[in-house]
Amino acid sequence: MSAKPTRYHVKSFGCQMNVYDSERMGDLLAAEGHVATDSPDDADIVVLNTCHIREKAAEKLYSDIGRLRKPRADGGRRTIVAAGCVAQAEGAEIGRRAPAVDVIVGPLAYHRLPDLLREAAAIPEDARGARWGRAIDTDMPAEPKFTQLPARRHQGASAFLTVQEGCDKFCTFCVVPYTRGGEVSRPFADLVAEAEALVAAGAVEITLIGQNVNAYGLELGGGETLARLIATLADIDGLKRIRYTTSHPRDMSDDLIAAHAEIPKLMPYLHLPVQSGSSRILKAMNRAHTRESYLATLDRVRAARPDIAFSGDFIVGFPGETEADFEATLAIVAEARYAQAYSFKYSIRPGTPAAAMPDQVPEPVKEERLARLQAAITAGALAFNLASVGRRTEILLERPGRKPGQLIGKTPWLQSAVVDVPGAKIGDLIAVEITAGHGNSVEARPIPTLQHESVPA
Ligand code: SAH
Ligand code: SF4
Ligand code: F3S
Repeated sequence: MSAKPTRYHVKSFGCQMNVYDSERMGDLLAAEGHVATDSPDDADIVVLNTCHIREKAAEKLYSDIGRLRKPRADGGRRTIVAAGCVAQAEGAEIGRRAPAVDVIVGPLAYHRLPDLLREAAAIPEDARGARWGRAIDTDMPAEPKFTQLPARRHQGASAFLTVQEGCDKFCTFCVVPYTRGGEVSRPFADLVAEAEALVAAGAVEITLIGQNVNAYGLELGGGETLARLIATLADIDGLKRIRYTTSHPRDMSDDLIAAHAEIPKLMPYLHLPVQSGSSRILKAMNRAHTRESYLATLDRVRAARPDIAFSGDFIVGFPGETEADFEATLAIVAEARYAQAYSFKYSIRPGTPAAAMPDQVPEPVKEERLARLQAAITAGALAFNLASVGRRTEILLERPGRKPGQLIGKTPWLQSAVVDVPGAKIGDLIAVEITAGHGNSVEARPIPTLQHESVPA
């Protein structure tokens, strides 16, 4: 009788890069003959792919370990892997706080996951089944992990593709430059090959991702840019939609802006975090843009692609933020006319320059500002969604809706569109007319053919 295969579960806590890494760790485990399970409770190996961006995100690791270290219903023991940015930032410290962890592996070293699991399994257990040691790798190797990963098994209409990693910008609040290292771009040809394989496996939409995706290629010095990559991928038959995220305002180059005018497959959506509307606070954040230069960048993009939907990230309660600074942030929401945006309370990250700045903002003030900012963002999103009523466009169906028969898809502007289309399935691209707009979604009805000219093919 053959042994039961080992079941694994990978849980993502972070950004799109973290989701991509989770998928790739799954590829590594599958290549070893392990099988995926949706349930962490049933799994033999659980990978917790953590995020360190805010304190709350990091704390989730320890609450999950507490639950997973208890024996399974069938008495079995789970092997627990702490991966991702908390693993990178805290390293061996995780094992001191949570001894049940078997493997600690950073985001640049996870191609070694199968070896680390073998190393951990070789550590002797005591009489109670506990291991007093663990396998750890938080190196930042010079040779990027990508070349050492197995082929992608991704199935599905929409896929992420990591094109660059790391950050050289050192915003004073942020841990990413420490957890992901410096900016490193993947070779152009490797990306084209990975995109072609994704499309051959059924992807119709690819989102190019990186902590600073629009810095792609800059450090390679060979004239390879994100705009060139997008143009090259646009030639792949069968690929219908290209997106990219996250961009830094400093690297919004002319050729990338022109791509929005010239490449129909490039979707009219740009996530461009601003963080604050106050130039004084932006300087303290080391953002390398001002309120004015940021708004000027949006104007240039809008001139190239008038229907573009903007989104942004905001931090409220950065050290020293006054009511006047915050009001400048509120004002920029209206000026930028965001289609949507994400907002966060400033969270102290140990070791970053802002953690040691004077005038930390009290928690109740942060909460009050966050509520006001979110109200402004929601009002802007509602206005954007209402203004799109009557548009004829296409949506890519992504998941079932709440009511029977309903499906939810994404418009080119990344709105969630709820639609009732008999016979359609997840992954279909269907022609619709937008019929109603809400705070964070639109409603749509199917139309027989697409007649509207302004819609990207
Ligand atoms: N590279 C991207 C964003 C990476 S992190 C950029 O440059 O914008 C995603 C978002 O988390 C950031 O845009 C920021 O808004 C938020 N963030 C990062 N550090 C934070 C902190 N210490 N406290 C609160 N929010 C933070
Ligand atoms: Fe963090 Fe700033 Fe780098 Fe974005 S650009 S990852 S916010 S340091
Ligand atoms: Fe979080 Fe690391 Fe991404 S800190 S936001 S998972 S790069």
